[in-house]
Order: sequence, then structure tokens, then C-alpha cells
Amino acid sequence: MSTRKKQATPAGTDVPRHIAIIMDGNGRWAKRRLMPRVAGHRKGVEALRGVIRACAERGVSHLTVFAFSSENWRRPQEEVTLLMELFMRALENEVARLHENGIRFRVIGDLSGFSERIQTLIRDAEALTRGNTRLTFTVAANYGGRWDIVQAMKKLMAAGVSPDEVDEAALAQKLSIADMPEPDLFIRTGGEQRISNFLLWQLAYTELYFTDALWPDFDPAALDEAIASYRTRERRFGRTSEQVRSAS
Ligand code: IPE
Ligand code: IPE
Ligand code: MG
Repeated sequence: MSTRKKQATPAGTDVPRHIAIIMDGNGRWAKRRLMPRVAGHRKGVEALRGVIRACAERGVSHLTVFAFSSENWRRPQEEVTLLMELFMRALENEVARLHENGIRFRVIGDLSGFSERIQTLIRDAEALTRGNTRLTFTVAANYGGRWDIVQAMKKLMAAGVSPDEVDEAALAQKLSIADMPEPDLFIRTGGEQRISNFLLWQLAYTELYFTDALWPDFDPAALDEAIASYRTRERRFGRTSEQVRSAS
């Protein structure tokens, strides 16, 4: 049996560099108030505004949120249409403010599923904010973790990479957010404890945090609770607890 070479261990940090969030529970938030589901989505956009600001203030450098999964097309046509309108309005109204605050905006996912108008708004917003470095805010839209791995594989094959040359690093370089640190902290609101095809590859060693809070109720204080929980975690990356302590 061959000896495995020693792998470099990623560094842990006090403030997560990258937070990934599944913003779930908008529909239930609205239902409890006898309101249409879209009212929950609207309120969800407000919650997101607060969380973006809080992340920038706390020195988080990357925030990636799941806004619409490749599976969400299965929802009733009316809800999908309203979500698209909301997405478009948010792109039209929020991007200038992000830019003023030094925030870079990106979208990951299969954009060909969206209208021309939305695709143009996305491209313009990405171009406008490209030089911003305070916080990179990424929206996963028509995104699926499996889609991401498949599109990365296709890029490798199109580049003529031979099977011997395919390794984890080569594949990782072709993923949607290859240039970012992997998420340190994953948050899912809404009580469900699953990944729902979000960043499958990138979450391999992320600390997971689940809360019953519904997304429209998730405020900066709730974010701080999640970060406090993250701080209590011992990130071993395969090592023993003793090794972690003697290294720090
Ligand atoms: C998350 O909230 C937003 C999207 C998936 C677009 P939901 O709409 O899934 O809300 P619940 O889970 O039905 O409460
Ligand atoms: C996951 O939420 C996707 C988003 C928040 C955009 P869902 O509400 O679609 O997830 P499932 O279907 O309950 O797993
Ligand atoms: Mg849901």
C-alpha cells in the first residue's frame, strides 16, 4: 500500500471568510399570516438586505445565497413567474446600492434558463461591480450542485484534458466559484436539515448550521448566533483534536 502524502490543512478563522445560505421558509412565513406566498418572498428580499449589510460590517468577504434551485421550476407556474418578476425588480433596484457599498455582485447557475432581460441585467450588474472588493455577494439562481459538477467536467473534456490529468484540483478549478475560498459556514433557515442540491462539492468540509427561524425573520442578530456557533466548532480537517491544539 502506498503512503499517502501529507496534505496541507486549510486555516480556520474567527470570522467566517465565506458564508453560504439556503434562504428557506418564505412560503411558510406568509402562510402563517394568511398572506400569499409571494409576500413571504418579498419580505425575504428585505431580510437579505440586512444580512448582506451585516456580513460586510463583520468582515465576511464572501456571501453566497441560494435564491432559486434548478428544481424550483417544478413549482406552480404562477409562483415561478412572480419569483422571476421579484428577481428582476431586485436586480433593477438593489444593484446601485450594492455598488455604492463596495460590494461585488455575481450570479452562478444556468443563466440560459432566464429571460433575455434578466440575463442582461445580470451581466450589467456583474460588469458594474467587478472591481469591488469589500464583500463578494453571489446569488445562486437556476443553480444545482450536480449541474455545477457536470458543467465543470464538460469544460475539462472540451479542453482536451486526459483522464490521467483529472484530479480534484483540476475539477475544482472549473466549478462556478472556483476563485473563492470554500464556505466556512453554511446556514439553512426554515427548519429543514438538508442540502437540497446546493454547493455539493464546496461544502465538503463546511460547518453546518440549521435554524428553525424562517428566512424573512432571519436578522443580523440571528446571523450573529450562527457565527457564534461556528466559533465553538473545532475544525479538524481529518486531524486529531490534539494535533489541532498543538498547531494553534
Ligand atoms: C425559499 O422559501 C425561497 C425559494 C425557494 C425561492 P420557500 O418558498 O421554499 O418557503 P417554504 O419552504 O415553502 O416555507
Ligand atoms: C431550497 O429550498 C432552494 C432555495 C432556498 C432557493 P426549497 O424549499 O426549494 O428546498 P426543498 O424542496 O424543501 O428541499
Ligand atoms: Mg422551502
